[in-house]
Amino acid sequence: MEIVVTGCTGRLGRSLIREWQGEHVVHGLGREDLDFGVPAGLERKLEGLHFDALVNCAAMADVESCESQLRQAHLVNAESPRVLARVCARRGARLIHFSTDYVLDGASEGLKGEEAVVLPLNHYAQTKRAGEESVLEENPSAIVGRVSWVFGSGSEGIVESVFRRARGGKELRAVDDKFSKPTSVREIGRMVTALLGRPDLAGLFHLTHSGEPESWWSVATKVVRLGHEAGLLESCPEVQPEAMERMERMRVVRPVHTAMDPARLRTDLHWRGVSWEEEARISLEALSG
Ligand SMILES: NC(=O)c1ccc[n+]([C@@H]2O[C@H](COP(=O)([O-])OP(=O)(O)OC[C@H]3O[C@@H](n4cnc5c(N)ncnc54)[C@H](OP(=O)(O)O)[C@@H]3O)[C@@H](O)[C@H]2O)c1
Repeated sequence: MEIVVTGCTGRLGRSLIREWQGEHVVHGLGREDLDFGVPAGLERKLEGLHFDALVNCAAMADVESCESQLRQAHLVNAESPRVLARVCARRGARLIHFSTDYVLDGASEGLKGEEAVVLPLNHYAQTKRAGEESVLEENPSAIVGRVSWVFGSGSEGIVESVFRRARGGKELRAVDDKFSKPTSVREIGRMVTALLGRPDLAGLFHLTHSGEPESWWSVATKVVRLGHEAGLLESCPEVQPEAMERMERMRVVRPVHTAMDPARLRTDLHWRGVSWEEEARISLEALSG
């Protein structure tokens, strides 16, 4: 399959390209190829490219930046995806567009399936929700895959940052009153490959592992334990719990309970998958190598 991956310099885009090399013909496109801040220019730029599927990893994914660049966030997260959806619909190419658990109503505890109520609280979430809607309006055959707490890209995920800090003997603190689920980029790659093989499937999918909601604190605690058990950390340092409202760098309001249930993966794809802990173990080994 010939696949265009946009946002090729980002965490997800970079990792998906790495996962798919050799298996597919992959064209990674960055900001200099396609500027999502100028939706009107995208159609023409895609004209000369051949592809069977377009996987859109480009986004303004930083919550605080979206709040300070309202118009740009709307263009990148909502308007440009609409153009991609239109182009793919016209060409008969498959579109996979990524979204986020932040669109969900996070007021009540527990896992949320694809039918769960949405209530985007901040501008990032509002633009991502608008992107979900515009993509499916323009192209009902598209897949919108919501992901959360992505790790395994080798850089800035929660698993990586906790492990690096623990290995460096630094103090460990993590928020214990916000809940979601870590998700491995490798598993997201396998899920997307499976979805690309099923052109009869469309619409919204929660692309996460099975398992219960986690806080950043519970994830950090498990990562430290996994690293210690694997002999990659000499000790098993304690992680101090921290309330979200005390985090200076998280000034923008965020939803609390947004752990997703991958219900449609189970019912439509009979997906069994692996746990996030198994994937975290692989990531820790890679970081130690
Ligand atoms: N990472 C997570 O934990 C997480 C959680 C929930 C949802 N998601 C969703 O997953 C998707 C991928 O996120 P990510 O973590 O890979 O984000 P990321 O690391 O911030 O990467 C974003 C990508 O989008 C590109 N981009 C930003 N503005 C652009 C513009 N104006 N024109 C063209 N490209 C532009 C960036 O290019 P530059 O390098 O040039 O800036 C980069 O390649 C997004 O839809 C995000 O909402 C991610």
